[in-house]
Parts: sequence; structure tokens; C-alpha cells
Amino acid sequence: VERYLNNGLTSERSTLQPSSDHMYLSHLVMSSVMPRHSCISKHSVAEISSTNRPIIGIAQTGSDLSPCNSHHIQLAKRVRDGILANGGTPFEFPCHPIQESGKRPTASLDRNLAYLSLTEVLYGYPLDGVVLLTGCDKTTPALLMAVCTVNIPAIVMNVGPMLNGYAGKKLIGSGKVLWDSRLLLAEGKINRSQFMQAVALSAPSAGHCNTMGTASTMNALAEALGMALPGSAAIPAMYRERGACAYQTGWRIVDMVREDIKPSDILNRQAFENAIACNTVIGGSTNAPIHINAIAKHVGVQLDNGDWDRVGYELPLLLNVQPAGQYLCEEYYRAGGLPGKELERRWLITKAIIAELIKANKFPHPDAMTVSGKTVGEECKNEFTNDSRVILPFDQPLKQHAGFVNLKGNLFDSAIMKTSVISPQFHDRFLSSPSDPMAFEGVVAVFDGPEDYHRRIDVMEGITPETILIMRGAGPQGYPGAAEVVNMIPPAELVKQGIELPCIGDGRQSGTCGSPCILNASPEAATGGLLGYLKDGDVVRIDILRRKADVKLSAKQIEGRKEEMGLYRQNRMPPSQTPWQEIYRKEVGELSEGMVLKGAVKYQRVAQT
Ligand code: FES
Ligand code: MG
Repeated sequence: VERYLNNGLTSERSTLQPSSDHMYLSHLVMSSVMPRHSCISKHSVAEISSTNRPIIGIAQTGSDLSPCNSHHIQLAKRVRDGILANGGTPFEFPCHPIQESGKRPTASLDRNLAYLSLTEVLYGYPLDGVVLLTGCDKTTPALLMAVCTVNIPAIVMNVGPMLNGYAGKKLIGSGKVLWDSRLLLAEGKINRSQFMQAVALSAPSAGHCNTMGTASTMNALAEALGMALPGSAAIPAMYRERGACAYQTGWRIVDMVREDIKPSDILNRQAFENAIACNTVIGGSTNAPIHINAIAKHVGVQLDNGDWDRVGYELPLLLNVQPAGQYLCEEYYRAGGLPGKELERRWLITKAIIAELIKANKFPHPDAMTVSGKTVGEECKNEFTNDSRVILPFDQPLKQHAGFVNLKGNLFDSAIMKTSVISPQFHDRFLSSPSDPMAFEGVVAVFDGPEDYHRRIDVMEGITPETILIMRGAGPQGYPGAAEVVNMIPPAELVKQGIELPCIGDGRQSGTCGSPCILNASPEAATGGLLGYLKDGDVVRIDILRRKADVKLSAKQIEGRKEEMGLYRQNRMPPSQTPWQEIYRKEVGELSEGMVLKGAVKYQRVAQT
């Protein structure tokens, strides 16, 4: 209590009156010596409140509503043990749940809500440092954004991926199975109950998705940014080593408080460029630029989709994990180390991939700092893979030029495309013209949101193998939070002929989806983007080499459309269903800008360039 009242930093944060401070603090201390916390109860109140015992928050994202992260309820106990063993005092608290597969209209609507909520907790309570228990897609960026705003020592602890899914001997990856099975269902090759069974087989244990979807990506990038213990990202949730990692993370955050290592000491421009490079070599999610740009905005680093193209595009794909590759996260983990060696040796994983880049002199900034107190280069030195089927050598990659391209033109200022997932069939049909390679033109069919698409796709006239499908009204304001719906399946007739159509949209696509869509288009239709003024039959031209995306309409025709069709947000945007949706729509920015709350980024504790 004394410490809390006398500590300048904490009293500066608090607006409570001294009397309520006393009451609050005695509750806090009493609750921590209650028998429920058997480890804490070994320590006296005096010991707990000593200034030498940093108070460490454990930001708990697991709950019954968030099954991907629910194993954190067990892991937090090991985090606590690590904190106590190193002389800290742990306080676990709940975060707003964000379950990717459960929240409607979309989980990403709640990323900024969880960010706001955690920011208030970290600002308002007397915590010296925090362990961020991450996992399912948006939990990782939400928690990282909050520690950027508050800038207290923080470390990421991922829940870890689920165990591999199998159907017989065949690997079945979570998320990806959904897209593959939906095609089989559309083709009539499986029935609904077989569809459900395949999806269930892909998720055999606790943990986040076992593919390189947004969850695996964001946790690998948290590590590449330097915010998680090196080598920790891909340890499967159910492995013994995940518990050891939780303990070591708890131990380390106490030292970070003593060493005063804050997010602003780690998250500089170099760290973000490292994350972009890492995203390419692991075949990371198209949601990564949104979340990484958002984290950058909250810590005051300039970063945009042009940086993703410039730093990331040329690099190769080295990780052979679904959806871009073949294996799942258990192989990813095992490829990092040799069984029988000591624990540290097994924690290679992301280290082994970064080591490949460093050896090839292609890792942007090996000198960048990490939470361990060592640089990325020091952590990854000579940490090579023992399974080159899973982590490929730099000179024999799965694919060359595997990063994202950043397209622009009269259709939008920025949209990204993951060229590494372009199938040979798609390439041959759309991108192989000898006179104009990597460019195609098509007549568009336009859909206003996923409901409109589902209602009309199989009954509308005029969709041919040359059509480009357009999804609009699916951006941050249009479908609040931005829906993962741009990857559209063509009409069943075309699917049966094995035909895939190009898709363009102002929404997102699941990180587990291997479709070469042009997505995250900004500005979205709802804020005046030209996608909102397209009509069926317009001709769109995409030129990947020149990074161009245009509709063939003159300036005069475009003006005419705007007059005729009016503002998209007024005429075609569905109404908000909850108060948060309404507040969100007023405050949120474009996908290319990280979809952050515009008023929130000015609260960053540090300004960097
Ligand atoms: Fe939660 Fe994939 S649905 S990690
Ligand atoms: Mg998703």
C-alpha cells in the first residue's frame, strides 16, 4: 500500500482519492494471499509489497468463449510460478474475449475494443510490467497495441498451435480444411456431414490454428519483432515445452522490469522491417500488414503497405507449412531442433528461419533488440534447421518472390495480393500472356457484402471464366471490423470445371486461405473508394508487374457514376447493430492504415521515426 501511494509513476496514473486507494490496495494484497493462490500464500504481505518485487500483470485472453486461447488458463499458472521464482508478484486479469471463429459480425471488430480495454487496465492499475497471453488471431495485435500506448515492460506468451489434424494419414490443417471442403461441397464430392467431420478432424486439441494462418503468423511476427522469447512462437500448446516457455516468460518479465526494457526500446522501424521479412519467408497471412501497421501506428513508427512490398516482396518462401505449403505446425516445431538435446536447443523454430535469412545476408536488421536482452542476430546465430523438408534452405526455396505486392490505381490507393499462393492454373489462365505477363483484364460482377454474394452467386447471369468477382461494402466501416469474405468461390457450374476466378475487394480474407485475391482495398467503398461506384460489366485491368489496378472509366464517367449512385455509406451500408459498431464506424481508419481508431494513436507514449 505504501509503495503504491508513494510511487510517483503509479500515483500519476491514478485519479483515485487516497482513502479509496488504501481500500483498493488492501483488497489487492488480501486477494493475493488468499489460499486460491497457493504459491503467493507462501510469501508475507510485506514481501509482496516490497519495492524489490515488481508487480506483474498477466493479461488473460483464455476463456470458455475463447477456446483457442483457453489453455492459457493452465499456462498462466506456470507464468505465475516464473514471476514468483524471480521475485515478482503476479496479478492475473481477464481481457475482452476475441474468438476468431465465434464472434459476429467478425472478430476483428473487437480487436480495437480489446485494445482500449487493456490500455485502461494497464494505465489505471499499478502494474510494473505485463505478460501478454496471446494466440487466436486478433488477440496478439490487440494486446501489443495496448502496450505500445502505455509503454510499460511487456512480453508476449503465445498459447501455441494445436496438434496436427489427420484424416487417416493425410494432414488436415485448421481453417484451410474449411476452404478446401467448401469447394468439394460445391462440386458435390462430399456431403454436409462429411464436411463437418473434416472440419472437426482439423482441430484435435487446445491451441490456436495449426496452419500458418493469422494466429501462427502474428505470433511468429511478435517473436520477429522482438516481443516474445526467441524460439517460442510455434511450440505446440500441448507440448511440455510450452509450459516451460510460460515459466521462462514469467521469469524474464521480472528482469525486464528491473532492466527497464519497454516496448519503445524494441519496437523501432528496424523491428518492423524484420517482421515484414519474416512474414514472407513463413508464408504469413494477408492480415499481417493490417495488424503490424496498426502496432507501428500505436508506437509511432511510420509503416505502410509500400514497405511490405519494398522489404518483403523479393524474399522467398522458406517454410513448407499450409496454406502455402504442405505441413503443419508440429513439423514446423520439430524442424527447429533435435530431440534429446537440451530445451534451449529445441526452441529454434523461428530462429532457424531467420538464421537462413541472416546467412544469405537478407535479414534486414540482425542488430535489432529482443525481450531476451540479446539481439535477433545473437539469438539466431548458427541455429539452423534439422529438417530441410519443412524449413528450406535460402537457395532452394518453395517459391521465389513470395511477399505481398501493393497495388494502386483509380480503383483504390492500396490493396495487397499474396502472389505466393497463385496456383499454376490461375497463372496459366490470367498471368501468362507473352506480350503482357502478370497482367489481366476482365469484366466485373459486383457484390455488396457476403450476404448479397451468397444470395446471387449461383443464380445470376453472365459469370464466365473471364469474370472478375468484386466484393465491396466489406471494409472496416462497411461491415464493421472488415469481413473475411473477399475470397469468393465461383458459381458451382464453374467450380465443377475446376475454374478459379480473380477476386478484388475492400474486405479481408482468412489467413488460412490460399487464394490470390486482391484485398484490403483502401479506401473502402463506404468511405468513397471507387469500388463503391462499379457496375456489373465494367472492365478492370490488373498489372502486377507495374503494381496497377484500374477500372476502364474516364474521369467524366466516374463523376457521372458518383452523381447517379450517391454515397455508398448512405445508400447501401447496413445499419449498426450495437453501440460499439456505431462508435467504431465513426472512429476507424482504412485497412491500409491498420484499421486503428483514429483518435487513439495520438496517445502513444513515444514518438519515433
Ligand atoms: Fe482461433 Fe484460428 S480460430 S486461432
Ligand atoms: Mg481469420
